[in-house]
Amino acid sequence: MLNIVVCVSGGGTNLQAIIDGVKNGRIKETRITGVISNNESAYALKRAEQNHIPAFCISPKSFSDREKYNDAFLDRLEELNPDLIVLAGFLVILPPKMIETYRGRIINIHPSLIPAFCGTGFYGLKVHEAALERGVKITGATVHYVDEGTDTGRIICQKSVQVLEDDTPETLQKRVMEQAEWIILPQAINEIAAGYGKTNG
Ligand code: GRF
Repeated sequence: MLNIVVCVSGGGTNLQAIIDGVKNGRIKETRITGVISNNESAYALKRAEQNHIPAFCISPKSFSDREKYNDAFLDRLEELNPDLIVLAGFLVILPPKMIETYRGRIINIHPSLIPAFCGTGFYGLKVHEAALERGVKITGATVHYVDEGTDTGRIICQKSVQVLEDDTPETLQKRVMEQAEWIILPQAINEIAAGYGKTNG
């Protein structure tokens, strides 16, 4: 059984795709043991509560300095004891110690075909604005392992999506979520869970 913790900051539609995947069997041998957000108003926390998943808000704003936030975040993660940490729209810079401790066990979903439109400053709608600005005909989403860089870890899977003539950043974002993110993130977790069963007993 793969125990996962999902880190979120916003609406939680990718979290919902994971919750639904575990429920409908597309994601096998996996249990969501907790959801952590930096944003107390993140709807993702409501989605966790609605599905009886322990939900925690750990906000940098609640701590006198970054060090204390990092420690609180790491302590909670340790309590939840994840085999895999899934960043699903998590907009916080990860504590270096977290990347060290969970190396090879943190994955992220990015709304472009990395290496396009990624790295510092490319998040949320900005990614789609840049894609439309550049005039690409194909975009998509990427699931990758997280390392010390920004969107630089080994790519696990990608799925392409057509850009339409009349797309706005909003319509493109919606299609990339529906046709790519919500499909490849559950798929990646399912593959990791399958492999986890074999290599970790
Ligand atoms: C998604 O577009 C994801 O690719 C990006 O942030 C957004 C999060 O959306 N990293 P949601 O909170 O999963 O709805």
